[in-house]
Parts: sequence; C-alpha cells; structure tokens
Amino acid sequence: MTQSLTIARPDDWHLHLRDGAMMQAVLPETARHFARGIIMPNLVPPVVTGDQAAAYRERILAALPEGMQFDPLMVLYLTENTDPEDVAAAHASGLVKAVKLYPAGATTNSASGVQNFDNVRPVLEKMAEIGLPLCVHGEVTDAEIDIFDREAVFIDRVLDPIRQATPGLKVVMEHITTSNGVDYVKANDKDLGATITTHHLIINRNHILVGGIKPHYYCLPVAKREEHRLALRAAATSGDARYFLGTDSAPHTDPLKENSCGCAGCFTATNTMSLLAHVFEEENALQNLEGFASKNGPAFYGLPVNSDTLTLTKSSTATQFPEKIESQDGPVTVFDPGFPVFWTAT
Ligand code: DOR
Ligand code: ZN
Repeated sequence: MTQSLTIARPDDWHLHLRDGAMMQAVLPETARHFARGIIMPNLVPPVVTGDQAAAYRERILAALPEGMQFDPLMVLYLTENTDPEDVAAAHASGLVKAVKLYPAGATTNSASGVQNFDNVRPVLEKMAEIGLPLCVHGEVTDAEIDIFDREAVFIDRVLDPIRQATPGLKVVMEHITTSNGVDYVKANDKDLGATITTHHLIINRNHILVGGIKPHYYCLPVAKREEHRLALRAAATSGDARYFLGTDSAPHTDPLKENSCGCAGCFTATNTMSLLAHVFEEENALQNLEGFASKNGPAFYGLPVNSDTLTLTKSSTATQFPEKIESQDGPVTVFDPGFPVFWTAT
C-alpha cells in the first residue's frame, strides 16, 4: 500500500553549503527538495560584509546544476566590528535576510564571533529598527560550564538580557536541543522563533556514546538526554508556528569527522524530508509537517510560501539513501537514522 502527502515545497532555515568543491557536491542534495535556504556564513574567512555576501551568493548560484532552482537567502556573520550601516544597506537591497550571532569559540569557524555583547549593541538596535532577524547559536563558551548545560545557561545569561535590552529585535534560536529552549520560545511569543534540526529529533546523547563513539552523530549543540529529544519532537510536531525546520546540515569529509579531534556536524540534506515524514508519522502529526517544513519559516521571515510542491510517498520497501556523497575534497557520510525509512521525497 502506498501513502502519499503533497506539501508546499519546503525551505531550510539553517544550512551550511560551504564553498568550492564541497559546495559543488552538497548543493544539489539540498536543491533537489528545498526551494530556499538560510545560508550560514561561517566560511573561512567568514561572510561579514554585504559585498562578501553578494559574492558568496553568486558562487552558490554558479554552482547550481543546470535545471535546478534554489534561492540562497544570505546571512551576515556578526563580529564586534560589524558596521550597522553596512548591515542596513545589505538588508535594504534585499540581499541579506538575517545576521548570525556566534559566541566566539562556540563551534566550527566561530573564532571571529562575539566576545563582548556590549560591542554589538549598535548593530542589534539597527536590526530591531529595520526588522532584520538575528539568528543565534545559543551556547555559552565558558570553560567551566558543562557542554550539556551550555544552551540553558546561554538563555539565562545572554539571550534573555539581549532580548530585554532590544525590544522589537526578531530572534531565531537556532537548532534548539533542550526543553529549556522549547520552553523559552513557548513563554515569549513576540518576535521569537526557533529552528529544530532533523537529527536532534532522532538522536539523543546515547546514540553518540553507547557502544563506541560515533563521530557522525557529533554536532553542536551536542545532542542531549532523551527527555530533551522528546520535548523537541513535541514542539516540532505540535503545529505551533514558532518552531520551524533548520537542518543545520553541515558537511565535513570523513577524515575530518573520523579523527582524534573530529569536527562537529551531521550531514542530513540528502534524507531530511524522508526522515521528517517518518518522525511526524510516528507522532501522528503528518498534518503538521507542512507547517514545520514549508510554512512557519516563511511566516517568521515575512516571505511568501513556495508555490510549487514536494510529494512524500510511503512504500512497503525501505528507501535506499546513499551512504556517502562524494566531493573532490573527499567523501561526506550521510546521516544514518539507525532505522529503516519507507518515505521518499520527489
Ligand atoms: O554541528 C555543527 N556544525 N554545529 C555548528 O554550529 C556548526 C556546524 C558546522 O559549520 O560544521
Ligand atoms: Zn549550523
């Protein structure tokens, strides 16, 4: 028996495309199913200015295979030297859809991120004035804070003070991983949204550590306890428009993941939509998948819902996904959910 579900074409509200050979390899994996993506700016060097974002957007469009459509929504990387007027101009031209806040040292290529939040106040105030959202990597970086507590501590010590001090600032809590993140969004309904990744709906910290260390399940923020995964699943599948899909699909080659100091990132672009159909079906919430993947994000960003569609089909044989995507930099392992999935996306 086949079952099928057609939804407005989804968007990915948090995506790492990288650059060069890696981008060439991974971009089709996203463009096959997604119409738009919020493109993370943590390149080396980072995408800091409007000019750099415009050049990066051109490189993305040039890497798009013939016949594929994809609209990269550009993001500026916030540093303590970011010029509010450059941000405002990049927004006014329609190029830039968000600014990304990485606390310095929080994750991959975040060294140029923010150390002293007072130094970015003028940019945040300008963003509140012009209605440009701030995407936040919500983890403190203090050495004495346990890695599993860093999101909850960030909410109390950094995020809430920033929001209180900057009325009207639209904030996306990126890739929330805890019930604390879910609850903070629930308690603050104005100007606040959160993205949730596919992999955080599927794995908890045991998947990373039990029975041997699994580098392909290591990402940041790191997956937490099962109770947190369940809170994320409840939020994502609830139909609440403040939660939307941001895959954080983050390719690293296998040698960089399978390493004594492995990189953080799960690569989910290839199978995300099938995995989400599986998760939403398990939660008896297939009717809310379109909201999560295709409608809530555009509503938050003030953009139209895509007019074309994606069809998810369930069959009785398990879908075969490639184990790896080959790039000229090396192979990238596709996220393995650890269970058979019967949904395909076309
Ligand atoms: O797991 C992650 N990978 N988390 C991030 O915040 C960054 C990303 C990357 O760029 O590899
Ligand atoms: Zn990310």
